[in-house]
Amino acid sequence: MTSPQAPVPAVIEKATGRSDWRAAVVLGSGLSEVAAGLVGSEPISFTDIEGMPGSGVVGHAGALYAGDVGTTPTLIFAGRVHLYEGRSLEEVTYPIRAAIGAGCDTIVLTNAAGGINESHPVGEPVLIADHLNLTGRTPLFGPNDDDVGPRFLDLSEVYDRSLRDLARSVDPELKEGVYAGLLGPTYETPAEVKMLRTLGADMVGMSTVNEAIAARYLGVRVLGFSIISNQAAGISPTPLAHDEVAEAGKKAALRLQTILKGVLAGL
Ligand code: HPA
Repeated sequence: MTSPQAPVPAVIEKATGRSDWRAAVVLGSGLSEVAAGLVGSEPISFTDIEGMPGSGVVGHAGALYAGDVGTTPTLIFAGRVHLYEGRSLEEVTYPIRAAIGAGCDTIVLTNAAGGINESHPVGEPVLIADHLNLTGRTPLFGPNDDDVGPRFLDLSEVYDRSLRDLARSVDPELKEGVYAGLLGPTYETPAEVKMLRTLGADMVGMSTVNEAIAARYLGVRVLGFSIISNQAAGISPTPLAHDEVAEAGKKAALRLQTILKGVLAGL
């Protein structure tokens, strides 16, 4: 049996003309401009990468920037697809699997998230220490090929401790939190936010968790950042709007860019 989460070989090499990739970054809502600040290369549209699902969400550009950060050959995916778009888990994890197929052994996942823990102010990046997968899905559902990855995957350290230490060495002010990943696309009700707080979540979003699981399944290291784009429902006195999420992402982009530059160059 094949695994739907197997690495995808060759497509990144074909699109970039290089085969020495070591790290990949996925940029979430409103964070696309970070890519240009990290590598100087021209973007490659997702539509020009074989099999790559394109993004249909405002604030997700849907382009790959490929180049060196310091001396680390790095792939930066600006934009992602989400389960709430009706995408499959094979599609959601495709960039991760393509990056790993191209040789990457470090995956950095970023997202915009609603803040639940009020000591994480809007506009700040927060290191993801751990997650709650509340999507009701897992990329490991279905047939498994033990030669690709383990059926019963250990998730006791999804977000790599030494990479988190490296990030904090770049930005000692960085705080950590637990990310709750939900299916979306609705924002939460105030009652759901209260529930998430009780469950131990510090921030909430609609991505990342299944990508992180797929990356761990394939044996690579994962680092994650949430940008707190808004206070979660019931904490904020005003209704949530996607524009607000995209705007806060832009403000936090510069600080995230500096952290990513230090981490990637330090690998
Ligand atoms: N909830 C869920 N996902 C989000 C939020 C939120 O408040 N903000 C950005 N993504």
